[in-house]
Amino acid sequence: MGYVGWRPARDVLLGGLRRLEYRGYDSAGIATVTPGSDVVDVHRAAGPLDNLVRVTDAEPEPEGVTARTGMGHTRWATHGPPTDRNAHPHRDASGRVAVIHNGIIENFAALRAELEADGVELESDTDTEVAAHLVARALDELGPDDDSAGFTTAVRHVVNRLEGAFTLVFTHADRPDEIVAARRSSPLVVGIGDGETFVASDVAAFIDHTRDAVELGQDQIVTLTREGAVVTDFHGDLAPTRPFHVDWDIAAAEKGGHDFFMQKEIEEQPAALADTLRGHLVDGRIVLDEQRLSDQELRDIDKVFVVACGTAYHAGLLAKYAIEHWCRIPVEVEVASEFRYRDPVLDRSTLVVAISQSGETADTLEAVRHAREQRARVLAICNTNGAQIPRESDAVLYTHAGPEVGVAATKTFTSQVVACYLVGLALAQNRGTKYADEVEREYHQLVASADAVKEVLATAVEPTRELARELAESKAVLFLGRHVGYPVALEGALKLKELAYMHAEGFAAGELKHGPIALIEQDLPVVVVMPSPRGRATLHAKLLSNIREIQARGARTIVIAEAGDETVRPFASVLIEMPAVPTLIQPLVASVPLQVFSAEVARARGYDVDKPRNLAKSVTVE
Ligand code: G6P
Repeated sequence: MGYVGWRPARDVLLGGLRRLEYRGYDSAGIATVTPGSDVVDVHRAAGPLDNLVRVTDAEPEPEGVTARTGMGHTRWATHGPPTDRNAHPHRDASGRVAVIHNGIIENFAALRAELEADGVELESDTDTEVAAHLVARALDELGPDDDSAGFTTAVRHVVNRLEGAFTLVFTHADRPDEIVAARRSSPLVVGIGDGETFVASDVAAFIDHTRDAVELGQDQIVTLTREGAVVTDFHGDLAPTRPFHVDWDIAAAEKGGHDFFMQKEIEEQPAALADTLRGHLVDGRIVLDEQRLSDQELRDIDKVFVVACGTAYHAGLLAKYAIEHWCRIPVEVEVASEFRYRDPVLDRSTLVVAISQSGETADTLEAVRHAREQRARVLAICNTNGAQIPRESDAVLYTHAGPEVGVAATKTFTSQVVACYLVGLALAQNRGTKYADEVEREYHQLVASADAVKEVLATAVEPTRELARELAESKAVLFLGRHVGYPVALEGALKLKELAYMHAEGFAAGELKHGPIALIEQDLPVVVVMPSPRGRATLHAKLLSNIREIQARGARTIVIAEAGDETVRPFASVLIEMPAVPTLIQPLVASVPLQVFSAEVARARGYDVDKPRNLAKSVTVE
C-alpha cells in the first residue's frame, strides 16, 4: 500500500499492512519519505508483521520529524528466500528511489545483467530491486526536472521495459508529497480521502480512512498527491477511471469477539448463502449480476468447462453434478493452471465458468484469457466487485460472502457452491430443460440451505471440536465420499493439509479398493461423508460396505451422516449428525464440520489458523 496525506505515515502503513497480511506474511517492510531527507527511510523484517512493528518501535522517528508519505508491503516470496535482505521495499544505490512489488518481473535476469554491466551492485536476490535502479537511472537520464511529471515519466519508461505481471509502487526522496504506482495484471485500487490519498492491493488497507475508491485498469500508472490521483496509461495518455464506493465497513473485516477470523467466517455462512442468493429470482426467472451475452448466445452453449484453483476448484466439481443433472450438457472441471496448457477444445458455443473468490488469481485469470482468445464465452463467479476476472468476462455472478480474511476459504466456498447452482438453474431455464416452476422450487431449496447450515452450526460444532482435539496428534487422516460427497471429502482433506500441516487425502470411496485401502492401518482416522439413505439409497448401501471394509482393517471411522440414519451408527466410531437436506444441498452442510475440524486440529497443534505457513490467500503469480 502507499499513502500521501497528513497523518503519520508509519501508523497508516502499519495499520493497513495488518489488513493486507493475508496476502503474504514471509516478511514486511515500510518506506517513509520526510521532506529535506536525502534518502527514503526503510525498515524491514523477515517473518510476520509483528517483527516489523518491533523494528519500527525500536527506531522511532527523531523528535519533531513525522513522515506523511510512504508505502508498505507484505511479501509472499517468489525470488529469493524470505530474509530481511530480500524484504521489500528495495532502494537504488543512492537510497533516493524505493520500490515495492507484487507479481514477477519475468525478464529480470536480463535487466539485472544490464545494470551489473553498468557497474550497479544489487543487494538482494529479488526480481524487484532492478525496478528501483532502473527508475533512478531513468530520472538521471531525464535530467534535473522540477516538474513533478518527471517522476511519473521515469516510471513509465521503466514499466514499458518490464515483462510479466506486476504492481509496483515507487517513492522518491526528492518528491516527499508524491507516490507513483503502476499496474499490470496484479490488482491495485486507489482510495480518495480528504487531503489524503491511498493506493493498495485491496481496499481493506484503507477502509479505516475512506470508502471512496477508484479502480485501476490493466497497464495504468497512477500519480498520487494529497489532492488526489491522476491516472495515465503506459503511453502517458490520461486514462478513464471507474470510481466506486466500498459497500462494507471496517466491522466486516474485524474478528468481532472471535478467537480467529476463520471461526467468525465459518459462522457467517448462513448469512453469506442468503446474501449470495438474494435478488436472483425475479418474476420467476434466475438473473445474473452482469450479462454481456444474449439469451440466444447462452442457449447455444453446448459444453461447459469450469476452471478454478484450490478450494474454488472443489466448488467447481460440485457445479458439474448440478449442471449436468439440470441442463443435460457435458461439464468438465479443471484446475486453471492445467487448463490452458493442454489445448482444450473450445469454441463460441463453449461456456467457461471461472470461479475465484478474489477474482485475481493469476492461474484462473490466464485461463479466462485463453478461453476468450479461443472465442469461448466466460462467466465469472467472484467475491470481489470489479476484480480483473469479472472485468474480463462476458457474464458475472457475485458471491456476497463479504471480506474473508482467514487464508483458508470457508464462507466463500459454500457461497461459490450456491452461485454455481444458480448458474446451473439459469442455464436450465434458458435451455428449457427445467420448467419455470421447477427452477423456482430449486431456488427456494437453495434459500432454505442457509437454515440447514445454521442448524449444523448449532449442533455439530462442539462435538467436532472435541473430536479434533482428540485426534490432533494423528499422523494422517483420510476422507472418503461418493457423488457430491466426493468433492466434500477432497475439500476436507485440503483444509486439514493447509491448516494443520497433516497428511490428508480425499478419495472417491469406490476407488478405495483400487489402491488407497493399502493405507488403512490400526486406528487410522478415516472421515466418511455419507449420502442420504433416502435421497441416494443405492450409494448409501455401497458406502456402508466401504465403511465395513475399512473398519475390518482397523480404521477409526468418523462418519458424517444425516440425522436419523440409524443403519450407519454401528459402524461409526464417531458419528457427527447433519440435518436432512436435498442431495445437492448436502455439501453445504457436510462441509461445515470439516472446516471446524481442520481449524481446531490446527489450533490444538499450536498453529496460526488464519495464516497457515507458506500460503497466501490471493496468489497473483503463476
Ligand atoms: C489460494 C488460497 C486458496 C484459494 C485459491 C483460489 O491458493 O490459499 O484458499 O482457494 O487460492 O483463490 P481464488 O481467490 O481464486 O478463489
